[in-house]
Amino acid sequence: MPKPESLSHADAAVLCDGVLTSWHFLRNLGQVQSGDRVLVLGGSGSLGSAAVQIAAAMGADVSATCSARNADLVASLGATRVIDYTSEDALRPGAGYDVIFDTVGVASFSAAKPALAEAGRYLCPVLTMGRLPAILLSSLVGRKRALFAAAGLEKPQRLRAMLSEILTRIDQGRLSPVMDRIYPLSDLVEAHAYVEAGHKRGNVVVM
Ligand SMILES: NC(=O)c1ccc[n+]([C@@H]2O[C@H](COP(=O)([O-])OP(=O)(O)OC[C@H]3O[C@@H](n4cnc5c(N)ncnc54)[C@H](OP(=O)(O)O)[C@@H]3O)[C@@H](O)[C@H]2O)c1
Repeated sequence: MPKPESLSHADAAVLCDGVLTSWHFLRNLGQVQSGDRVLVLGGSGSLGSAAVQIAAAMGADVSATCSARNADLVASLGATRVIDYTSEDALRPGAGYDVIFDTVGVASFSAAKPALAEAGRYLCPVLTMGRLPAILLSSLVGRKRALFAAAGLEKPQRLRAMLSEILTRIDQGRLSPVMDRIYPLSDLVEAHAYVEAGHKRGNVVVM
């Protein structure tokens, strides 16, 4: 797709990762509706910072977890409740979330299930051997679902359609990629070490 003039190369690049993935998970997989209660685990990361904005713009009531240093950022993205995962368990039984989007794979379907509403969906982009049976079983038993997708494996025309809608939202000022750091290619090792520490605020770009 052509990059809009108004968008920097760095911002355009990150749209294809966290923003596009969260868009696909919340809209297509989780089918979030206005008024839904959505919990985003890892609300300050690449997927999470996009997810909070997307869910809030869809009219959901958004709760999100992060550490205390990122609470203000996550609230500014549209979360009505920010939970510090170091001191509070966000997966309170009976919480009644319609969607729990575990962007970093820090929970499991069995841990999330008691906090889901009756037909709630647990979405996780991180596929592990432990998560696979839960995804298969939940499609057969009960009304709560565990769902996975690989956004990048969607057909190109579908990805283009999603990106086109994302660009419209960006143009309207309703969505904005969160940029943490931009590294020069010569600092690739440092960039990897920073990302792998698992605490980036939004996105990291190497260019
Ligand atoms: N399936 C797909 O299509 C797809 C596509 C793209 C990415 N992914 C996967 O999605 C995952 C997330 O990627 P990302 O780039 O968004 O990750 P990221 O930016 O590194 O995530 C960082 C976030 O995780 C939070 N966090 C770290 N440790 C935590 C813990 N113990 N409990 C709760 N939150 C914690 C951080 O909060 P603090 O910094 O405040 O601690 C921050 O909000 C990766 O595994 C990636 O491979 C999948």
